[in-house]
Amino acid sequence: MISIKSKREIELMRKTCELAKNTLEYIEDFIKPGVSTEELNTLCHEYILKHGAYPSPLDYHGFPKSVCTSLNEVICHGIPSEKDILKDGDILNIDVTTYLNKFHGDTNKTFLVGNVSPEVRKLVEVTYECMRKGIDQVKPGGHIGDIGAVISEYANDLGYSVVEDYCGHGIGREFHEDPQVVHVGKRGTGAQIKPGMTFTIEPMINLGKKDGKVLKDGWTVVTKDKKWSAQFEHTILVTETGHEILTLRSDEKA
Ligand code: MF3
Ligand code: CO
Ligand code: CO
Repeated sequence: MISIKSKREIELMRKTCELAKNTLEYIEDFIKPGVSTEELNTLCHEYILKHGAYPSPLDYHGFPKSVCTSLNEVICHGIPSEKDILKDGDILNIDVTTYLNKFHGDTNKTFLVGNVSPEVRKLVEVTYECMRKGIDQVKPGGHIGDIGAVISEYANDLGYSVVEDYCGHGIGREFHEDPQVVHVGKRGTGAQIKPGMTFTIEPMINLGKKDGKVLKDGWTVVTKDKKWSAQFEHTILVTETGHEILTLRSDEKA
């Protein structure tokens, strides 16, 4: 069942999404060679608590940390660790989800660490474009399948693959609600998009093949071929006329 948020619920979604967005903006300055993903986790954790919220990933189905930190060949759900120290040329995705006043807001960004190779920079740019093209599809009367259709067409034409094992999701009182928002597929398929829906769009795009595997820690998803992967995520509200990006940062176009 896909929940339609009331006016009051939408205001609460705005608040939690703003905090998730602010956390990503806050952490950006700390991302540089030599810092560990554990340190970045601690900074995000403290920032979220200081603003009266709880980091949704912490203890979510046993996840041990407050944010996901996914480096290079990690597709998603990377666990922050003292052993993972950023180095020049890395790419790091930080995925922040906040729980504030009983509502979740979810957003992530892939950051460049120092000087990143042109090939990888292009991967990151294309991944961002995939997310934005998916978001552009969101309007009442459209279908959830329209999102994945444009994302996969754009990525595949440029020679990248789209991860199919993980997808976007409805969000609100629950971290993961209906509908599933797949990042591949066919126009006109899936649930109809209606005003008051809130869901994420969060494509994971790979330089190599789409396949991933979960490491022995039970969480970290890496590409099978070890080629690098990027991701961006926003929480979207469907409005009467189109959509609003609830987690839009100041470094992005509206
Ligand atoms: N934030 C992720 C998402 O975009 C989910 C992380 S679940 C966790 O859906 F348990 F790994 F934190
Ligand atoms: Co999400
Ligand atoms: Co997320």
